[in-house]
Amino acid sequence: MTKKVYIKSFGCQMNVRDSEVVCGLLLKEGFQIIDNPDGTDIVIFNTCSVRKHAEDKVWSEIGKFNVRNTHNANNANTTKPIIGLIGCMAQNYKGGIFEKAPAVDFVVGPSDIAKIPGIIERLLGSRPTTHDPQLCDVRVWETDGTSRPEEIYHTGFYEDKEHAYVVISEGCSNYCSYCVVPYVRGEIRHRNYKDILEEAEEAIGKGINRLTLLGQNVNAYKSTNHQAAESPVGFVGLLGLVNEVKGLKEFSFVTSHPRDTSLELFSAMRDCGKLKKYLHLPVQSGSDKILNLMNRGYDRKFYLDLADKYRKIVKDGVLTTDIIVGFPTETEEDFLSTRDLVERVEFDAGFIFKYSTRPGTEAAKMPDDVPIKEKERRHQIILELQKKISKNKKC
Ligand code: SAH
Ligand code: SF4
Ligand code: F3S
Repeated sequence: MTKKVYIKSFGCQMNVRDSEVVCGLLLKEGFQIIDNPDGTDIVIFNTCSVRKHAEDKVWSEIGKFNVRNTHNANNANTTKPIIGLIGCMAQNYKGGIFEKAPAVDFVVGPSDIAKIPGIIERLLGSRPTTHDPQLCDVRVWETDGTSRPEEIYHTGFYEDKEHAYVVISEGCSNYCSYCVVPYVRGEIRHRNYKDILEEAEEAIGKGINRLTLLGQNVNAYKSTNHQAAESPVGFVGLLGLVNEVKGLKEFSFVTSHPRDTSLELFSAMRDCGKLKKYLHLPVQSGSDKILNLMNRGYDRKFYLDLADKYRKIVKDGVLTTDIIVGFPTETEEDFLSTRDLVERVEFDAGFIFKYSTRPGTEAAKMPDDVPIKEKERRHQIILELQKKISKNKKC
């Protein structure tokens, strides 16, 4: 009988795309993907570790599942579904997941998602009553330029029938001091530009006409595996090539890192007719001291100049950002510098986060010394300010 799989994604667009990849691989093996957990044979949680809150959401989801199944255990027709935990938390906790959440049957890190159908087949064969610590496949890719197997991006499964996410690079080598991503996703690897273009064409062949190019730091893109005679393709070059893809109506990209953002990028945004005039450029803080402690590789002046040039070159371009408040040692003065930057730049939208210690990161060695109440106050102030700015800009 066809086995039903329910996948729930947490975290960023990268996870949304990874869940699609897993769906595509499972569909190819004859599984059925369903959008409601009731009556499912397999549940997969594709998880995020970026903040403690993101992890807490997953623990609580798994907990709910246990309750529902304990309740269902009274019903002879229902058995506990196979539960898989994949994605960034899998990489972060590895086999430790089984101890924290005994209902979980398998754990697979982001680099190993191609193995998921095989692991499920194995579990279905042995129909476990308890978790099996052998079913834990987690590893970070070595920095040898290789990516995940290219085939996984060509199953042709896209959730949205009009828009597709196309991964251009995986992982991140920036090591911002607060961030877990390089540890859970590995160092940056770039897909070959020809493979990217091929996937774009395949998506268009399926009637999709809008694309988003995805990476943790798209500006660092550099095509590897090209023939020796070819010159490498950088991010701006890639934008030019995607812009030429027949049948494509519109495309965009996320996320940009200010340090690697060039004026050529702004010119390309102005000149590529199909490219959306939308730039998500996380600033994180307006204080030089904090930016330095965050290991962001730019200062306040650099960011303000960049934002200014963007506005001048890309007429009517949208600019959005991410901000972290309450980073270790952030004083009122540091915070006011962030507030001032937000006022000056007048972002179209901003995502504001309270600093959350991520074990294993550089910042975790610093004292998390801004009290939670103070983080909340600063969070609220920037949130309100940004709301006002966004509202005024829309008028
Ligand atoms: N690669 C992207 C996205 C990273 S995660 C980038 O560099 O912008 C998305 C956002 O989460 C980050 O921009 C940052 O603002 C926030 N973030 C990351 N780690 C965090 C932490 N430990 N505490 C609070 N916010 C964090
Ligand atoms: Fe994390 Fe910094 Fe990489 Fe973004 S650029 S994913 S914040 S390490
Ligand atoms: Fe979260 Fe992993 Fe994305 S930690 S933000 S799901 S890369």
